[in-house]
Amino acid sequence: MKISAPKGTRDILPAEIGRWHKAQKTFADVCHMFGYEEIRIPTFEDTDLFQRGVGDTTDVVTKEMYTFEKSGRSLTLRPEGTAGVVRSFIENGMSSMPSPVRLFYDITAFRYEKMQKGRYREFHQLGLEAFGSQGPEIDAEIISVLDVFFKKMGISHIGLKINSIGCPKCRNEYNKILKDHFRPHIAELCEDCQTRFEKNPLRMIDCKVDGEKELIKTAPRLVDYLCDDCRDHFDSLKNRLDNLGIAYTIDPNIVRGLDYYTRTVFEFVSENVGTQGTICGGGRYDGLVETVGGPSMPGIGFAMGVERLLMEAEAQGVNFEEPHYVKIYLAGMSDAARDFIAKACYDLRLAGVGCEQDLCGRAFRAQMKYAGKAGIPYLCVIGDDELSSGRIKIKKMEDGSEEEIDIKDLVSYCQTNM
Ligand code: HAM
Repeated sequence: MKISAPKGTRDILPAEIGRWHKAQKTFADVCHMFGYEEIRIPTFEDTDLFQRGVGDTTDVVTKEMYTFEKSGRSLTLRPEGTAGVVRSFIENGMSSMPSPVRLFYDITAFRYEKMQKGRYREFHQLGLEAFGSQGPEIDAEIISVLDVFFKKMGISHIGLKINSIGCPKCRNEYNKILKDHFRPHIAELCEDCQTRFEKNPLRMIDCKVDGEKELIKTAPRLVDYLCDDCRDHFDSLKNRLDNLGIAYTIDPNIVRGLDYYTRTVFEFVSENVGTQGTICGGGRYDGLVETVGGPSMPGIGFAMGVERLLMEAEAQGVNFEEPHYVKIYLAGMSDAARDFIAKACYDLRLAGVGCEQDLCGRAFRAQMKYAGKAGIPYLCVIGDDELSSGRIKIKKMEDGSEEEIDIKDLVSYCQTNM
């Protein structure tokens, strides 16, 4: 029986790994520049963490989690990174560290979703979380992390949409208004929305089934019912983005698919990455640390889907130069030369120069063909004549030029010139 990769997963092959490294390294560099440090968290956590953290009325928790039991304990493959980072923040006593505590991550995540362009069941996220700052300065700063990152990647014109979904105080008031709007028509809505109506009416706004219905489109928007503090926070965020020259639009429909958000929510969107178009999503979650069992502590963060980011980069024609790690091919014409080459390759690698030799018993011509096909930029042919004269030629494949050097200078020549 042929075994294929499970639906919704994909291999990342050597031909495309260069662009992944570029995204991951650029993200880490930009995060470091803003004072963030990397955290690595487990791939699976107690199921309860996501139920409490992400929210038990969300699609992610009710429909999309990969949950399994071991030794009577329910565990779940992480569907996102925030809940795990918050758990680690609490467990490792990070709340006693100077604020803000800034953490970034580079993870795989798992959601049992319907396959679509840009939507996988195993996917990758680059994200960050910051704890201990009420904002709105930090809200603007984390958006600027993304702005700088996109620029360094050579990606432009990704739309930034922002919204405020208020605090529990204004949300309570708004929920009543929203319920009044939906109550006379509740029977027209899907089963999920009927449950949401009781448990979490805000979630009805981004229902995947009913989202396009007039009743949802005409629903009152939370941004129009913010309390004074939340309105000031949102206005101040807008001023700060204006000051940084970061363009945005206000989209009252952004409520995000996870329950932990308060106040600022935002998304970077593009039509190149599939029906939902979201490359990156994030926001503030001032109640989450407490919900997961920690102290009262504001938090904010975002995560970006790497698959979607790279789709966008490709659609924008970003050129990813793949570096040549192997700089020189040493082709051997005799047994003695092959012995010499084996030791020379060892010395070159110790000295930090990537190189290759034949490992498949290829004849001389076949070795040359292999080096050409592999695109190795330099070639050196070594036979008995070169061993006895002590002189070798290094050929630059790009223009065919050759330089003759002493065989004993091979390592230092390569270190200096390649
Ligand atoms: P999210 O919006 O659920 O937020 O996911 C963030 C990003 O992950 C999305 O914008 C998208 O690019 C990518 N993504 C999500 N699901 C899939 C999928 N099935 N296939 C491919 N890519 C996907 C979060 O995960 C929050 N934890 C973000 C956050 C961090 N908020 C505060 N801190």
